[in-house]
Amino acid sequence: VRVFVPRDSAACSVGADEVAERISAHAAAASGDVEIVRTGSRGMLWLEPLVEVETAAGRVGYGPVAPEDVDGLVAAGMFAGEGESLGLVEELPWMKRQQRLTFRRVGVVDPLSTADYVAHGGTRGLLAALAMAPADVVETVVDSGLRGRGGAGFPTGIKWRTVLGADADLKFVCCNADEGDSGTYADRMLIEGDPFTLIEGMTIAAYAVGASEGYVYLRSEYPDAVATLEDAIERARDEGWLGPDILGSGFGFDLHVRVGAGAYICGEETSMLESLEGKRGMVRAKPPIPALEGLFGRPTVVNNVLSLATVPTILAHGAAEYAAYGTGRSLGTSVFQLGGNVARGGIVETAFGITLGELVNDFGGGTSSGRPVRAVQVGGPLGAYLPVEQFDLSMDYEAFAAAGAMVGHGGIVVFDETVDMAAMARFAFEFCAAESCGKCTPCRVGAVRGVETIDRIVSGTDRAKNLVVLEDLCELMTDGSLCAMGGLTPMPVRSAVRHFGEDFNA
Ligand code: NAI
Ligand code: SF4
Repeated sequence: VRVFVPRDSAACSVGADEVAERISAHAAAASGDVEIVRTGSRGMLWLEPLVEVETAAGRVGYGPVAPEDVDGLVAAGMFAGEGESLGLVEELPWMKRQQRLTFRRVGVVDPLSTADYVAHGGTRGLLAALAMAPADVVETVVDSGLRGRGGAGFPTGIKWRTVLGADADLKFVCCNADEGDSGTYADRMLIEGDPFTLIEGMTIAAYAVGASEGYVYLRSEYPDAVATLEDAIERARDEGWLGPDILGSGFGFDLHVRVGAGAYICGEETSMLESLEGKRGMVRAKPPIPALEGLFGRPTVVNNVLSLATVPTILAHGAAEYAAYGTGRSLGTSVFQLGGNVARGGIVETAFGITLGELVNDFGGGTSSGRPVRAVQVGGPLGAYLPVEQFDLSMDYEAFAAAGAMVGHGGIVVFDETVDMAAMARFAFEFCAAESCGKCTPCRVGAVRGVETIDRIVSGTDRAKNLVVLEDLCELMTDGSLCAMGGLTPMPVRSAVRHFGEDFNA
């Protein structure tokens, strides 16, 4: 019998390693064969550590399991799927309502087992791609409608087309895994739970555009992801999934991990490239876009982890199947991440078009404090704060843009009625002041002036006048900043003033 215990860092932070050790001790003493498989997390974080046991009907779940629960669970027949359980994991309402494409293997497979990967459909996308002309691979990604999951939503295939069309002696594929947005962790969970998918996606991208070298820029705050990915890259080389002659195709590509030092701005693609080149992470002016002049001045694909990790499924199952999910110009699925003051936090991968309220209430179960939800921030620290009156908003790029908000990287942070929205607006400026690269004045100076202006407003000093100054400053930062850091900081500020104006009274 196989018993699955996550090795994801979220699960380990609440005791998964200790639970696995206790189960090991029982497994050694058990008469039958009990094999413990360490997996990624299913993303139901309130159930971690979630232990699963393979039965004829499917995997039966137990969770959250504390180390001291293990003796009792084993005595009650856990190794046979018996005793008090959650039932079949795939049948849990949270799992059943999702459409897992990018995350299909996360929490299911042993992340470092190449055999498990292949048994669960891994490498099918790469083999399909290698049998096609590179330009056809690019057009398949265009047809799928996949848009950049880092946040900006630029069509992935169109970006690849630009790199393919660029003439150069050397091209690169860079994966942006500097997941800095507050309340986001999907990149980490994907890398810890199914790293071969990212490697496969990057290899397909490289083949499509004619790149021979790739880099994953991973943040230092994710040491488990760094270790898992480095191990996976070694194993992929051993399998011939990376190297000079990938799967006998004659196409060569290799991949390296670079660890960032903890600056939010290094998630901005041009700063990331500077950092990869060994320099201080400062934003470069665009144009030129990285697709034409990127790493070391060469044409470079820069994509987020989730964009690249979605490519294998598109190639394996076809563009039309992927594009059948979603709504309008937001096609496919998105990996939403519920966090903050929420009862059931975790990963929800669904087609675009689900409403914000369905995510927060149906999946999230409202707040963990039990108080009413007052606000949610969608899209990281540069995203808008939305009130419950907007819970019927469709989760798609266009609907959010029309509402003065953004889906971003899919992070949703929930706040209850005790939140002080003026303090949150102030925090947006403070964050910008701390993380600004300092290259342009609207952001470097504007963020500091923003903190001061909000302080004046809430202390009642020339309140009406300072609200005008605040709006003026927001307009200047939006229009005059060189990158999204300064350019989007006004979004949380303005949304807080617009929807929660009462919090800005003295
Ligand atoms: P952008 O709109 O300037 O660019 C989007 C992408 O499209 C870039 O890779 C750009 O190089 C590329 N591009 C634009 N025109 C192109 C063309 N003609 N051909 C080929 N490629 C082209 O947006 P930016 O500044 O890259 O990203 C801003 C977004 O980043 C925000 O909306 C925010 O949601 C997100 N963000 C995400 C974070 C995270 O942790 N994932 C952190 C902070 C911000
Ligand atoms: Fe740097 Fe801020 Fe200007 Fe971006 S907006 S280039 S982070 S100073």
